[in-house]
Amino acid sequence: MADLNKSDRAAWLQGPSAQCVPLPEPSPNPSRLILLGAPGVGKGTQADLLHQRLRACHLSTGDVFRAAARQSECALSPAMKSALDYMRRGELVPDTTVWEMVRERSGCLRCGGGFLLDGFPRTVAQASLLMELMEREGLTLTAVVNYELPVNEIVARLSGRRTCEKCKAVFHLTERPPKAEGICDRCGGGLYQREDDRPESIKVRLEAYERSTAPVVEFYQRLGLLLPVSATGSPEAICERTLEALNAWRPQSPSSV
Ligand code: AP5
Repeated sequence: MADLNKSDRAAWLQGPSAQCVPLPEPSPNPSRLILLGAPGVGKGTQADLLHQRLRACHLSTGDVFRAAARQSECALSPAMKSALDYMRRGELVPDTTVWEMVRERSGCLRCGGGFLLDGFPRTVAQASLLMELMEREGLTLTAVVNYELPVNEIVARLSGRRTCEKCKAVFHLTERPPKAEGICDRCGGGLYQREDDRPESIKVRLEAYERSTAPVVEFYQRLGLLLPVSATGSPEAICERTLEALNAWRPQSPSSV
């Protein structure tokens, strides 16, 4: 069922000169969450479900790169062209390019509806820059949800993923199949397999995660902001588990280690 109140996230996907339609409604207590976890663990799927419950906007850095990939070659800056090559290979895009893109969109972090950051930060350098920016803006993180899943299940989720080319809804060939093969249930758009979901790119992405993103988990653990959540079971069960964990959770004191 299409969510008619869902913002098109134009300011995030296209940049600050675009305006979201509809504008997200300000919340008296906006959720400002980071979703961490290996590629394919289900962060995007959870962001979609959590958005329906918390109304916070789904801000995925991967979605910004994929939106850029659909533009004509000549509309892309040299930095963005190079970023897309990194992404196709399954490697991380350099921190300077990612940060430039996020900094440009910092209005989305200030949005009164809150945010669900997915795919960012992915290195300790990115996490430090985000922390500095949020401190300057007087914004506090609600929590950093870390989704955990054995690697064999992660590979199965990535290999069967199909994404809508229009509304970006995510399906799975066996676990979350669309009603009609190759067609999005929500908007009727065509479904495609992401270039970086080929086996050789999956391997590179999982290695990049272990090398660069696992230390980010430790970074937030030390700050007392990390909330581990098991990513086994159905998407709906994981979403309920996340909301229960968020309700019960209070930030810990930062560790001095
Ligand atoms: P990005 O788009 O962020 O990809 P990712 O982190 O690799 O995560 P995915 O989108 O692959 O997986 P997901 O966890 O969202 O899982 P999903 O919900 O789709 O980044 C892509 C690339 O961009 C990077 O490799 C890098 O090059 C670049 N990039 C982006 N941000 C960057 C940054 N900050 N720094 C540097 N480079 C950056 O689910 C996966 C599948 O499983 C789906 O088919 C889904 O239907 C299915 N599924 C989900 N939940 C369940 C469930 N509970 N049970 C069964 N199936 C399920």
